[in-house]
Amino acid sequence: MLLGVNVAGLSLKHPVMNASGILGSSPEHVDILVSYNVSAVVTKTITLQPREGYETPIIIELPSGGVLNAVGLANPGAEAVKSLVSRAKALKAPLIASIGGRNEGEFIDVAIAVDEAGVDAIELNLSCPHTKGYGIEIGVDPHNVYSVTKNVASITTKPILAKLGLSDSIVKSCEKALSAGAKALTLINTVKAMFIDVYAAKPVLSNIFGGLSGPPIHPIAVRVVYEVYRELKPEIVGCGGVSMWSDAAELILAGAKAIQVGTALMKGGEVVTHILKGLEEWLKIMNLKSIEEAVGLAQV
Ligand SMILES: Cc1cc2nc3c(=O)[nH]c(=O)nc-3n(C[C@H](O)[C@H](O)[C@H](O)COP(=O)(O)O)c2cc1C
Repeated sequence: MLLGVNVAGLSLKHPVMNASGILGSSPEHVDILVSYNVSAVVTKTITLQPREGYETPIIIELPSGGVLNAVGLANPGAEAVKSLVSRAKALKAPLIASIGGRNEGEFIDVAIAVDEAGVDAIELNLSCPHTKGYGIEIGVDPHNVYSVTKNVASITTKPILAKLGLSDSIVKSCEKALSAGAKALTLINTVKAMFIDVYAAKPVLSNIFGGLSGPPIHPIAVRVVYEVYRELKPEIVGCGGVSMWSDAAELILAGAKAIQVGTALMKGGEVVTHILKGLEEWLKIMNLKSIEEAVGLAQV
């Protein structure tokens, strides 16, 4: 099994999953993601109650490349996870529930709900850069990261992945997440950014700020994965601007064991096929027997 990986205790047929927020909020989305051949389905970030999200415009394709979004964590709420789990089980696909909360109490309540629903793992979204109270405010403070992770770990035996975003305290936050019981880290989320319409002389997003994703953030993701792997040697799911196989290979060489694809997957599942084919050929050329042999090889 050249491409098989084991991450956060999940045995996956290959390293490529969808990133949270790209499909993953209805049973039909689970069907589509499985048809794209992802190795695990990651849900949209789930909060306790359903959320409508922000008014449009919420997603913009930027002229300079990349995508800016401020969806506002629109999601069907914790109750809906049961239907996602049963569809994923029927299709024999591992399901990772991404969860979010305004405070520790909400994280715990959602974690209990998704745990009972039978998900395979839980990804803590500690890094949403544009929904006030949910995410990056928690993720930039290593003490909060520790506390949320520890509390969630106390109510579930499911593997926990902590998803963190760009901040000056990223290494410390990662260390705290791991010491509190996270089995792996997902790095990185979108990067807080904005876009101004120069004729309207106004920000374009209704929320003013959004999260930048796609190719412009790829080198940032590679840097963060490299630095966190160098310091802590954890299991990492690399995410950020992967649109071709060599982007995935870079993240693996920096220290990631698995990969999530977000923005590029919005155009369809061909990118997964391209990445898998490219990685397989690359491993052979590099004379490597598995993805795991390539993890962190670029560390100097
Ligand atoms: C439209 C959209 C919605 C997203 N929603 C979520 C979300 O609900 N939870 C989350 O953790 N990340 C969310 N993200 C961030 C992605 O999971 C990913 O971390 C980020 O986009 C970087 O990967 P990419 O460059 O491959 O898109 C979203 C991204 C986009 C573009």
